[in-house]
Amino acid sequence: MDTIQDKITRLDRDRMPVHVAMIMDGNGRWAKRQGFMRSDGHAEGVSTVHRVTKLSSDLGIKYLTLYAFSTENWNRPAEEVATLMYLIGWAIERELPELLRNNVRINLIGDIERIPEDARKRLFDARDATAHCTGLQLNMCLSYSSRWEIADSARKLARLVKEGKISPDDITEEMFADHLATAGIPDPDLLIRTGGEERISNYLLWQIAYSELYFTPVLWPDFSDEHYVDAILDFQNRERRFGKTSEQVQNEN
Ligand code: FPP
Repeated sequence: MDTIQDKITRLDRDRMPVHVAMIMDGNGRWAKRQGFMRSDGHAEGVSTVHRVTKLSSDLGIKYLTLYAFSTENWNRPAEEVATLMYLIGWAIERELPELLRNNVRINLIGDIERIPEDARKRLFDARDATAHCTGLQLNMCLSYSSRWEIADSARKLARLVKEGKISPDDITEEMFADHLATAGIPDPDLLIRTGGEERISNYLLWQIAYSELYFTPVLWPDFSDEHYVDAILDFQNRERRFGKTSEQVQNEN
């Protein structure tokens, strides 16, 4: 039986994903199974966020993007929304010293102005305090939805056309991507969704055009370092063709 250390040794360091995105699902079901409140599941989920961030950093992954709160999550019961907002602000403040020690840079993606002031301030403080860090970039998607982001990019380009700065014919895929909230960040190589559902839920729709998708039934609070390494090993066994034939890809390598 392979230990986690054996599995880490088996990772091909030349084929590590540069950017891993995650949909952290299953906190509520984890809590229910233990007979706890949903908010306890979210609190436990913060421990997984801590672990995946540390392991991503240790493995030299450059970008980790977490779906912490979707636009649609605002429709959850007010008490759960309030708990999540409190937890996010509390966790980011508590984690800041370790993030700095590990050279992790925080980046915020989404309609952050909707986040309640207290949590928003802690998030901005963490972002500003880590702005000089050059290791892992931790992108936290908050009040985020991909359709919101795509519509926002379209609005920005429409304004540039209206102001006469560009013509509609100038608009390229690259220009469109440069007006998304993820501008400057390479597309995810690997998208992991925990919790057993096999859907994308309005997450990074533009950016995952060629990402490898990995779905696991493991609930987010139970998602261990070993599960994470298993996902990367699975990713490394796949052939990424980007629309080409297998023969073309093999000739390139
Ligand atoms: C989905 O589980 C999870 C969320 C909506 C929130 C995820 C947030 C955290 C783990 C805390 C984030 C903290 C930081 C610092 C980023 P669910 O409630 O939909 O689970 P269910 O499908 O079992 O009901």
